[in-house]
Amino acid sequence: MHQNANLVSRFSQRLSVFLFLFLFTLAVQAQTITSPDKNLSMTFELAANGVPTYQLTYKKKPVIKPSRMGFEMKDVPSMMEGFNVSKTEQNSVNDTWEPVWGEQKTIRNNYNELLVTLNQKEHKDRHIQIRFRLFNDGLGFRYEFPQQEELKYFIIKEEHTEFNLTGDHKIFWIPGDYDTNEYAYTTSQISQIPSLMEKATIDVHAQHPIKTLAVQTPSMMKSSDGLYINIHEAALLNYPAMNLNVDPKTFKFSSHLTPDAVGNKGYMQTETHTPWRTIVVSDKATDILASKLILNLNEPTEYEDVSWIKPVKYIGIWWEYFVAGKSTWAYGKETNVKLTDDFTKLTPNGRHGATTENAKKHIDFAAEHGFDAVLIEGWNIGWEDWFGNWKEEVFDFVTSYPDFDVKEVQKYAESKGVRVMMHHETSGSATNYERRLHDAFKFMNDHGYTSVKTGYVGKIIPRGEHHDGQWMVNHYNHVARTAAKYKIMINSHEAVRPTGLHRTFPNWLAQESARGTEFEAMGGLAPDHATILPFTRLMGGPMDYTPGIFQTDLSYYHGGEQRVNTTLVKQLAYYVTMYSPLQMAADIPDNYTRFPDAFQFIKDVAVDWDDTWVLEAEPGDYVTIARKAKGKNEWYVGGITDENTRTANIRFDYLPKGKTYIATIYADAKDASWNKNPQKYEIRKVLVNSKSVLKQQLASGGGVAVSVKEGSKQEQKGLKKL
Ligand code: NOJ
Ligand code: CA
Repeated sequence: MHQNANLVSRFSQRLSVFLFLFLFTLAVQAQTITSPDKNLSMTFELAANGVPTYQLTYKKKPVIKPSRMGFEMKDVPSMMEGFNVSKTEQNSVNDTWEPVWGEQKTIRNNYNELLVTLNQKEHKDRHIQIRFRLFNDGLGFRYEFPQQEELKYFIIKEEHTEFNLTGDHKIFWIPGDYDTNEYAYTTSQISQIPSLMEKATIDVHAQHPIKTLAVQTPSMMKSSDGLYINIHEAALLNYPAMNLNVDPKTFKFSSHLTPDAVGNKGYMQTETHTPWRTIVVSDKATDILASKLILNLNEPTEYEDVSWIKPVKYIGIWWEYFVAGKSTWAYGKETNVKLTDDFTKLTPNGRHGATTENAKKHIDFAAEHGFDAVLIEGWNIGWEDWFGNWKEEVFDFVTSYPDFDVKEVQKYAESKGVRVMMHHETSGSATNYERRLHDAFKFMNDHGYTSVKTGYVGKIIPRGEHHDGQWMVNHYNHVARTAAKYKIMINSHEAVRPTGLHRTFPNWLAQESARGTEFEAMGGLAPDHATILPFTRLMGGPMDYTPGIFQTDLSYYHGGEQRVNTTLVKQLAYYVTMYSPLQMAADIPDNYTRFPDAFQFIKDVAVDWDDTWVLEAEPGDYVTIARKAKGKNEWYVGGITDENTRTANIRFDYLPKGKTYIATIYADAKDASWNKNPQKYEIRKVLVNSKSVLKQQLASGGGVAVSVKEGSKQEQKGLKKL
């Protein structure tokens, strides 16, 4: 009896010591930080077996339930569990910075940070760190790998970062893919993704190599209780891009990195870190579009001199290749050529677009209407069999076709104060491009080109690599950095989706990396497409969407049914709703000449901004944005809707108080719609001040564009107040 009592007491003593230790451990292992405005709260915690987890709440509502973090490695023990917290540090930052160009002149960078050091005792104290930054608009976190005896080189088999969502949210998604982002969006509940996946992938020429159920980032969601959640990544350097595996039953998403040619997912050498994983959250859709979290998580630019980097408004020899059916990139009739061939011996097909004469015509038009540059595609040899042959040496980037005189075109452009924009289609052969890069950029310097559109159509070489893998990520970044040495600005097509790197490489003005206007000529874009893009693809950076199509009914050129699924006015609104420091007026010049009053908006609209106000927005439905032109007292407003007619509510409370301005309103006509009367519009001028509110009817598939300028007393006279 006595012995038993003793045992019980010893046991309870042990239990309390154990409990104490357990609670103490929990207390040490769980760490919470809040956003500066206290709306967001993030807790890091070690779960059973030393598994790192994080969770996120917004205004006390869960956004991300406890979700695990970690890595599976090749050849070395995994980093999934067995951790203890050896150190935690907290830090706060509240400052501002000025981008070289952007949606606003000054950006606030305000966050609370937690840095957790995690130790794996079992593996000789191998340690990693997780850095969390909690802003008012969301969370960013990344894994850091300090240099240490136990971790020098390692290969990632998979990153296992989970995003454990709270319910069956509405999601705007495109299928996971290692090579292309050029999909149409599907809007559904998470649970519906499996049944819609096949249809969602069907119209893309590229394969869909992801075998798991996965979607791409930026992934935009809305919960049934009205929370907007956006998951993406920031500062993708020396690492593969992330897709998200989807569990349609538990609503748990998890990272799925793009593999390389032999199936590995990241070659690392300490000291190093991953890109940031980002979760932008708000109960207002407009806050998602206003978020600068991704930019804030990128490093400031390394460039000492940025004075040569300038936003660009351009036209091009481009749309005619897609619609007019009369011209081609290729010069010769032959369909099987080699770079070593004598291209002057080819049989001209008679439809070559990039001729000296056509170039001059475009330069004249650009000069007359104040454009900075003319993109000329198809100027260089190799287009006869550029596509689909997985061929290493398609282009040399320095030799023009016999009917295109580089020197003469350059001299002409210079005399008119216009730049020619270079075009480097690589046909996916990154090896060939890298070998020729210095010659190609030197050629540009020698001939007065300051910007280049690059392209990666087709399967990548090195063969087996993917557009979004680590090798190609390093390639794009190498091209951007090298271009800066030659003071060249880049607009990349088919490159990995952007992650805010334009802060670090401000000469990387824009990217395509989504379905742009070209698809209007290849089956069409859904009327809600452009209301989704700002919430998805554009979260990572500017898009070369190539707006401005006035001749939307394409039967105009060649009969048939094909049309651009917008009104003409919606095309104007894109210059404001689709942010980019590089904007094309993509239509064939003759079409602008037919609508000079509407064309005036494209001529006027700015491409760089002092400030931006997202007036109203709902993904998939509508977006209305106002912006102030950089260094000018001019404001531009763009509003777009999906297939539904809608009233846009446009405030002017950002105008200086007590002053009167002239607003020129470009509106869909009453009987306009994207499929009937898309070219019917009305332009009116009214007086506005900071108290004015414009309620403007938008047509189905339509929009509204407004320019606001002070004008002279004379010009204001006789105009009515709004
Ligand atoms: C695809 C690009 O998106 C398009 O703009 C370009 O004209 C072609 N590739 C040819 O490079
Ligand atoms: Ca493309």
